[in-house]
Amino acid sequence: MTDTKRRLEPGAELDRSDALEADRALLVELEPEAGRLFDRHVKVAQEWFPHDYIPYRLGRDFDKEPWTPDQPRLTGVAQTAFEIGLLTEDNLPSYHRLIHGMFGKGDGAWINWVGRWTAEEGRHAIVLRDYLTVTRNIDPVSLERGRMTQLQQGYDHDAPSTLRGLAYVAFQELATRIAHRNTGRYSSDPVADRIMVRIAADENLHMVFYRDILGAALKLQPSAAVRAIVDEVLAFEMPGAGIPGFIRKAAQIAKAGIYDLRVHHDEVIMPILRHWRIFELEGLDAAAEEARRRLAEHLVALDQAARRFEEKVASSNLPRIASAG
Ligand SMILES: [Fe+2]
Ligand SMILES: [Fe+2]
Repeated sequence: MTDTKRRLEPGAELDRSDALEADRALLVELEPEAGRLFDRHVKVAQEWFPHDYIPYRLGRDFDKEPWTPDQPRLTGVAQTAFEIGLLTEDNLPSYHRLIHGMFGKGDGAWINWVGRWTAEEGRHAIVLRDYLTVTRNIDPVSLERGRMTQLQQGYDHDAPSTLRGLAYVAFQELATRIAHRNTGRYSSDPVADRIMVRIAADENLHMVFYRDILGAALKLQPSAAVRAIVDEVLAFEMPGAGIPGFIRKAAQIAKAGIYDLRVHHDEVIMPILRHWRIFELEGLDAAAEEARRRLAEHLVALDQAARRFEEKVASSNLPRIASAG
């Protein structure tokens, strides 16, 4: 066993350094387009300030009036969705490390993008925490303990290549946009809704950057890009997966219609795949054709699973987002 491992290692190391070299070359080749997309982003992104979104008039000192469970106006799934949304945003140090690891090998526009993206993401946790603390909608002690657990654990995503990394963040930004937007709608709180509309607009521009830079990569390396996209669609997992109790909480969020298989299939995966015209690309190599076949099968299965889930929740009397107003 040990001998086999020892024999395999040099080859694996060689493969890895080849792959790193190929990644670096691709980043260099994409750099002019990254620059164009970065400039476009800076032009359309609106400056905004978290403090403008917080109802500070509701604030009271916690030492004089400690938090008690009867204080939140948000309850149940609405509260859970905000908790997951904030803890996910809180893990920014891990995402920065990953994003820098993937794109920091490029320079110029890539580095500018990593900095800009990180700074914009930082506002999301700031505005969410201020809102939840001032309104007392979540126990601030359990929220802080959740943050500590989450950050000490960190977040890792196995993104062995630039192409897979780009595919993941394109889908992930859109997934986050929809989850935040629906969390705001579900809350039936105009203050929360306004915050989530604002954050969702940021996530949308992030998605557009990643979607379009991968669109450029699809022109340079269509077969490799298709394989990377398929790998990411098949393995997709939300970045909150490390949060304690995430599976149970994600199930509640799905039942409420905030983020379920239907949303994932119809509003996240399909629009981006259509934008890239994945099923219309021609001249792919055999491996990419095979990947595309697996993708088609996966999408059918995902759609069927979404339908079964919809039928199951339709027969329950759980409040869903459509009826949440
Ligand atoms: Fe965010
Ligand atoms: Fe984002």
